[in-house]
Amino acid sequence: MGKIILTGDRPTGRLHVGHYVGSLKRRVELQDSGEFDEIYIMIADAQALTDNADNPEKVRQNIIEVALDYLACGLDPAKSVLFIQSQIPELCEMTFYYMDLVTVSRLQRNPTVKSEIQMRNFEASIPVGFFTYPISQAADITAFKATTVPVGEDQAPMIEQTREIVHKFNSVYGDTLVEPDILLPDNKACLRLPGIDGKAKMSKSLGNCIYLSDTEAEVKKKIMSMFTDPNHLRVEDPGQVEGNPVFIYLDAFCRDGHFAEYLPDYKNLDELKAHYMRGGLGDVKVKKFLNNVLQDELRPIRERRKEIAQDIPAVYQILEEGSRKAKAKAAETLAEMKRAMKINYFEDKELIAEQAERFRSETD
Ligand code: TRP
Repeated sequence: MGKIILTGDRPTGRLHVGHYVGSLKRRVELQDSGEFDEIYIMIADAQALTDNADNPEKVRQNIIEVALDYLACGLDPAKSVLFIQSQIPELCEMTFYYMDLVTVSRLQRNPTVKSEIQMRNFEASIPVGFFTYPISQAADITAFKATTVPVGEDQAPMIEQTREIVHKFNSVYGDTLVEPDILLPDNKACLRLPGIDGKAKMSKSLGNCIYLSDTEAEVKKKIMSMFTDPNHLRVEDPGQVEGNPVFIYLDAFCRDGHFAEYLPDYKNLDELKAHYMRGGLGDVKVKKFLNNVLQDELRPIRERRKEIAQDIPAVYQILEEGSRKAKAKAAETLAEMKRAMKINYFEDKELIAEQAERFRSETD
């Protein structure tokens, strides 16, 4: 059996550095590793609509933003199929059948859905489509027979739910679907990058994101305004690195080589942290270093993004071609599913022959 990747993002905004270290960067490494037979990267517009039904324009405008972010980071349409979810109607059909295999109480227990319901104040009026999006996400994954789903930690309950659906489907209808594994970032700091305000999650609505498409000046301004250790008031004070966003970002982004280049007084991040904790190291110095590190990472992405954006019709062509390939694969899986579920009436010559025989003998 081949190794297949499927993953994706909701097009509700431009992608930020949290997406980048949490998933995007890894995808590109996996893509270039040559270890995978097929790679599918999906722009989840239908899922975005589950809580943006009244704002289709937002979703529509952000599809191109996400596609540009993908291409700028190095996702390569020659190696990865980039496609748009809503263009694959087979996914809806699969979702419809999976709905028979999941209980309401199981959905209510999904921790991601639970916390999103809270975040969106959906308590009393949650759209059915939103409530059931874990089932549709299971369709996204299984349609491609994905073995590997590289995502951030917050998506773990979705993969778990997908595995349960696969297990149930296979045990009821016979071995058809593939149980996927989640692939989390190996660097702990990358699991969940906090916002620049120190809040646990980067989110557009909190206004605490650094975007891949931010200008150099915007990135610098955001870093210099970053939340740090609130008790580290004077340079001499001992500071805390744990839970300090500036150091979490450094954990995620900096390598020893950055010290030689930008901060040669220190050999590595451990030495810098030790000094900060001892006292005598100011936030501004650390932030300036982080700025250098992050600009190095983001500069090539920003430049490539600008270049690719000069030919938007070409980007849509990539998505259209990708959607065509994705649809072919999903249709193949759906046909197998329908065969397993015995709802493939017209291709089931045996069924027709057997019934023909039976009805003939009954009329005798
Ligand atoms: N739920 C994911 C997010 O919020 C997006 C997504 C939709 C996805 N379908 C998927 C991710 C399938 C991985 C696999 O970012």
